Amino acid sequence: MSHATLPSIRFTVQPGGALRGRLRVPGDKSMSHRSIMFGSLADGTTHVKGFLQGEDCLATLNAFRQMGVAIEGPTEAGELTINGVGMQGLRAPASALDLGNSGTSMRLMTGLMAGQAFDVTMTGDSSLSKRPMKRVTMPLGDMGAQITASEQGTPPLHVHGGAALHGIEYDMPMASAQVKSALLLAGLYAEGTTTVTEPAPTRDHTERMLRGFGYEVSTEGNRISLQGGGRLTATDLDIPADISSAAFFMVGASIAEGSDLLLEHVGINPTRTGVMDILRLMGADIELLHQREVGGEPVADIQIRSAPLKGIRIPEALVPLAIDEFPVLFVAAACAKGETVLTGAEELRVKESDRIQVMADGLQACGIDAQPTPDGIVIQGGHLGGATVASHNDHRIGMAFSMAGLCAAEPIYIDDCATVNTSFPGFVDAAASVGVRIRASGG
Ligand code: S3P
Repeated sequence: MSHATLPSIRFTVQPGGALRGRLRVPGDKSMSHRSIMFGSLADGTTHVKGFLQGEDCLATLNAFRQMGVAIEGPTEAGELTINGVGMQGLRAPASALDLGNSGTSMRLMTGLMAGQAFDVTMTGDSSLSKRPMKRVTMPLGDMGAQITASEQGTPPLHVHGGAALHGIEYDMPMASAQVKSALLLAGLYAEGTTTVTEPAPTRDHTERMLRGFGYEVSTEGNRISLQGGGRLTATDLDIPADISSAAFFMVGASIAEGSDLLLEHVGINPTRTGVMDILRLMGADIELLHQREVGGEPVADIQIRSAPLKGIRIPEALVPLAIDEFPVLFVAAACAKGETVLTGAEELRVKESDRIQVMADGLQACGIDAQPTPDGIVIQGGHLGGATVASHNDHRIGMAFSMAGLCAAEPIYIDDCATVNTSFPGFVDAAASVGVRIRASGG
C-alpha cells in the first residue's frame, strides 16, 4: 500500500498507568520472513507455528504464493503449512511483487531472485522506495547477478533471471543482517563458496534457520560461509515472540511506577538482546525466567519491574544488537535521570524513517532536550509534557511514543500509525490489556 492510500490512524495516549499482568507479543518478524523463504525452497512440507501475521511478513508470503508455492494458513494461531517446491521449483510471477513497507523482504529476496531462471520486478511503498538497495545490488553484481534499480539505487528493482552466479568473499562495510543474508541466499545458487565478513555481529537467524533446514553454514568468528548447490530439507518451526515487539513493554514497565509485567516466550538470541543490556546499564530490573531452547533459538519469559533509570553512554558494540529498539530506548532516555549519549548508529537514518531525526523532533515536541548528531543523539532526561507527534508512517516510532504516555504529564497524540500493523497487529489492544491508556481513532 502506498502511504497516500494508508488509512489515517491516530493513537491517543492518556498520561499515567502501570503495566501489570502477562503478555505474549506476536511472533518474530525476522524469523517469520525466513520461514516462508526457506520453507518454499525446501524439499517436503514445512509446518510453522507462531508466524507473525503482520503486513511485512504477509508481503513475503504473498510473493511466494505468486511464484507458485502452495501455502496453507496462516490460521488465527499463526500456523502455516508450506508445500516446498525445491531449490529450482519457483515459477515466474504473473506481475510485479509488491513488498509494501518491508526492507527485509526486498533485500533478502533480491539475493534469492538473483539465482532464479526467470525475471522478477519488486516494488514497495513510498518509504521502501526511498531506501538504499545498492548495499545489496553492488555485491550481488560482483557475484554475477543482473539487477537494475533507479538511478539513486532505490526500488523498484528488476532482477534478470538466468545469471550464472559465483561465490565471492565480501567484507561488509556496515553491520547489516539483511546484506549478509542477501549474499548468503544468492550463495545457495552460486558456484563455489560465498563468504561474508561482518564488521560487528548481526542477527544470525539466516544461518541458524538454514542449518535447521539441513544446509551446512560455517561461522568462524565474524566470517560466515556456505557452498552453493545444496538442497534444503523441510522441517517444523516454532517461532518465538519478537524481542523487538517485547522491547516496547520492557521500556514501558521500566518507566511506569508500580509496574510488574511478564512477557512470555520471547526469543533471546544473543544477537538480539542489546535492548536488555542497554536497559540494565540504565538501571532496569529485568529477569529471565524459564530459559529454554525452541527449534534452535533460545527463548525465555521476561519479568520487568519498574525501576529508576539513569542516563548512560551507550556502548557502540551494543548498537547492532539493539538496532530496531532505539526509538523506544530514546523514550527510556527521556524518562531517565541525566544524559544519554548514542554514537555509531548512523544506520538509524536509513530505516523505515530517519529514526534519529524523527525521534528528536517528537521528543522535542514533548519538551525534552534531544539533540540529533550525524550518527546518534544526545538526550537529557526530563519531564515529558503532552504533544502531537508525527510517526512518519514508521511503526516503531508510533509504538515508542505510545510508551511515552506512561511518564507524560499530558496526553500524547501520535499521527499516522497505520503502519504499526506491519510488525505488531493488535498492538493497541495488547498495550491496553496490560495498562497503557491508549486508543486508536480514524481509519
Ligand atoms: C533485519 C535486519 C535489520 C533490522 C530489520 C530486520 C533482518 O536490518 O533492522 O528490522 O531480518 O535481517 P539491517 O540489516 O538493515 O540492519
